Amino acid sequence: MSSKVLLVLALAALHFAGDSSAYIWQRTKTFDVDPLERFQAIPPARETAEKFMRNFLGIDFSVMRILKRRHRRSIAMDNISKLYAQFDAIFIIDSSRSILPKDFKNTLHALQLLTGKADKQRRYAAITFSHNATVRFNFSSKQDTISNLRKVPFEAGKTNTQDALGTCLNELILEHENGARPGLRKRVLIVTDGQSNVAKEKTLMRAAQIKRTGTQIFVIAVGRYMKGMSEIVGLASSTDAHLYRVANTKGFIKVIRLIPPWNIIKEYMTRSWLYNPEY
Ligand SMILES: *[C@@H]1O[C@H](CO)[C@@H](O)[C@H](O)[C@H]1NC(C)=O
Ligand SMILES: *[C@@H]1O[C@H](CO)[C@@H](O)[C@H](O)[C@H]1NC(C)=O
Ligand SMILES: *[C@@H]1O[C@H](CO)[C@@H](O)[C@H](O)[C@H]1NC(C)=O
Repeated sequence: MSSKVLLVLALAALHFAGDSSAYIWQRTKTFDVDPLERFQAIPPARETAEKFMRNFLGIDFSVMRILKRRHRRSIAMDNISKLYAQFDAIFIIDSSRSILPKDFKNTLHALQLLTGKADKQRRYAAITFSHNATVRFNFSSKQDTISNLRKVPFEAGKTNTQDALGTCLNELILEHENGARPGLRKRVLIVTDGQSNVAKEKTLMRAAQIKRTGTQIFVIAVGRYMKGMSEIVGLASSTDAHLYRVANTKGFIKVIRLIPPWNIIKEYMTRSWLYNPEY
């Protein structure tokens, strides 16, 4: 063996030795990090608005392409509403005492704005929960939802998330005489600031029961640092498309404000309105 070959072998050995120790070091390092920690990060409002629009409202790039095609043939705007994801929505609103009355008001305001921006046919129901869950209104039209939300009272009590999920399943998903459009799936939007504290061992089981009916669960997790992150992550149908982080209720309003209203959807075709803060 020539000395050159020996040198190459020696260098290669050093190289791999270096690699494997780096690997071990990295493994040790990630082992210490809480895997849920990354969900604490609060993305910029614009990013959250775009993600929410794509996943909750169902306006994605394939819809954009169809909109562009249809536009050329100038098909009635009414028919374009059929391109939106078709679903009825259920708002589940945390009304526990860890929330301040003004934050509760902000949340209702954000949901009113959201309702005002979506298409006309969608129907909405709402549940609030603190020590118990209460259906505040059955599936209602867009206009009725906006006025019904104004009347939802603040409760201040414990955080009985599992009761809210159970009520949602039994009274709004499985029950048919409640104003929902027949044959459409439902999407649940939970707005909460943290983990449940009443029969909390049932929370994730109830969420799973809802998901088994084909209902997607979206979560708006409000707060700079969430204590109950593992529960929140388990509630959402997925972490990449169904879990949203905002620092406070003002942040939630800001995100909703960035979503363009339904009647300006046409703008979608001509310019990138999502990056235009005027809406
Ligand atoms: C809109 O859709 C309806 C039924 O889906 C159809 O009859 C009508 O012709 C459509 N209108 C236009 C302008 O395409
Ligand atoms: C509501 O909560 C209270 C206190 O936790 C409880 O005593 C009561 O039975 C609950 N009501 C319903 C309808 O579940
Ligand atoms: C919702 O509908 C159900 C079934 O028709 C009814 O029993 C219930 O009282 C309604 N709830 C509200 C809040 O209107």
